[in-house]
Amino acid sequence: MITCESPIAVIDSGVGGISVLKRLWQLMPNEKYIYFGDSKNAPYGVKPTDEIKKLTFKNAEKLMERGAKALVIACNTATAAAAADLREKYPSFPIIGLEPALKPAALSGDHPTVIVMATELTLREKKFAGLVSRFENDAKIIGLPAPGIVELVEGGKADSREMDEYLTKLFLPFRDEKQLCIVLGCTHFPFAKKSIRRVMGEDVLLFDGAFGAARHTKELIEEKNLLRDENAKGEILFENSDEGHIELSKTLFEELE
Ligand code: DGL
Repeated sequence: MITCESPIAVIDSGVGGISVLKRLWQLMPNEKYIYFGDSKNAPYGVKPTDEIKKLTFKNAEKLMERGAKALVIACNTATAAAAADLREKYPSFPIIGLEPALKPAALSGDHPTVIVMATELTLREKKFAGLVSRFENDAKIIGLPAPGIVELVEGGKADSREMDEYLTKLFLPFRDEKQLCIVLGCTHFPFAKKSIRRVMGEDVLLFDGAFGAARHTKELIEEKNLLRDENAKGEILFENSDEGHIELSKTLFEELE
């Protein structure tokens, strides 16, 4: 039976969703969480949509069977591939997805240039095309895949010389853009924030959908009267299809500001 004591399930292709878990924890530190990262199968973003849909269903359903009271798909890629079908199959179960925070970026200035950093899968799916069509008159929107960041974060090199070198090359064509905003449209990317700032300057505007997703999760759980007692002590269970990524998960969680 699902009760207030049931955990919130959080899934991602790997350790990226920890950036969402952190925001959930900051907002609801009294809840119980099970975080499942699928690092054995990462990266998701370069694979066919059907394969990601299958993996996401498998990982989500396992945690739902274990009695989760809500599911946070802390992965833009898995959301684009599977969230609509999961919601169709489980219409009354709270399922929260991630999508690139294009809206606040596009509306942040007078026709800014918005670079949406996301995986190839996220950028090619119709969910993203729908988002672009809503804001294409407000901003110049550029989709930019960055699979190297996912690899470096999964390899424990989020804040490294290799990351600086990769980003320096990646951003080279955009160095002279005025009013530049960067959307972190993949949950692995907030871990590269320090490096992005070193390369693009301290005041580059960064947009991260994790904060909104955490607020939305709280609202949905509250609507169902399933929030845990405010005095309860929260806990997090870190799980991963590759055991070797559990320590890294904990470190990334602790270190993210
Ligand atoms: N963390 C995932 C996202 O938010 C994708 C990373 C991957 O390619 O596995 O899109």
